[in-house]
Amino acid sequence: MGKPIIIAPSLLASNYAKIGDEVSKAIYGGANWLHMDVMDGHFVPNISFGADIIAAVHQTNDIFLDTHLMISNPQQYLESFIKAGSDLITFHIEANGDPQVTIDTIKSAGCQVGIALKPATPFEAILPYIAQLDLVLVMTVEPGFGGQAFMTDMLDKISEAKTYRDEHNLDYHIEVDGGIYQDTSKLVREAGANVLVAGSACFKAPDFGDAVKALRG
Ligand code: DX5
Ligand code: ZN
Repeated sequence: MGKPIIIAPSLLASNYAKIGDEVSKAIYGGANWLHMDVMDGHFVPNISFGADIIAAVHQTNDIFLDTHLMISNPQQYLESFIKAGSDLITFHIEANGDPQVTIDTIKSAGCQVGIALKPATPFEAILPYIAQLDLVLVMTVEPGFGGQAFMTDMLDKISEAKTYRDEHNLDYHIEVDGGIYQDTSKLVREAGANVLVAGSACFKAPDFGDAVKALRG
């Protein structure tokens, strides 16, 4: 039996002038998680938002917060993102610091942990840590911006992550992130992904609920 499909709309694509309403729209529209794209303008050439926004969403809503740290020095900020109420924190294997220390810090706080791979980073890069992970994030765009085109050559990496999980009796989620719409959702689900991040496909859709249903297939 495969893992359940989880739809995680990215708040990056929401209307920041009315974030509260946007979060309510996501929850009402059937989102399972809320994907929180944190960018520092250094690891990626864009700045988004920090722990205070995550705390504000956490204090006023009951939805699983999937924090994606696109920052150079994750260890420096883990405490604030944990305190803000993140349920899962994903950091990039390409970021600074010892990944084992980052994993230990996140898990010791009772938070789930994921590692993200940029498109150019091979799946093998995370093998030393993979047995400890709750989630593997295969970026299907270059991190930094929403609204980019899906990179079809990432499908092999998704399949690799699934094969490795099944052959080693592991249980991590396989999350994909970037350019996920109804058509690409089918491709990534067939390749083995079960957590679909979608920013534009959800928050720019005429009907949020219909967009979520279309992603589920
Ligand atoms: C990009 C972010 C993605 C992005 C997804 O760095 O990690 O989550 O916001 O946006 P869409 O779904 O519009 O490609
Ligand atoms: Zn993301």
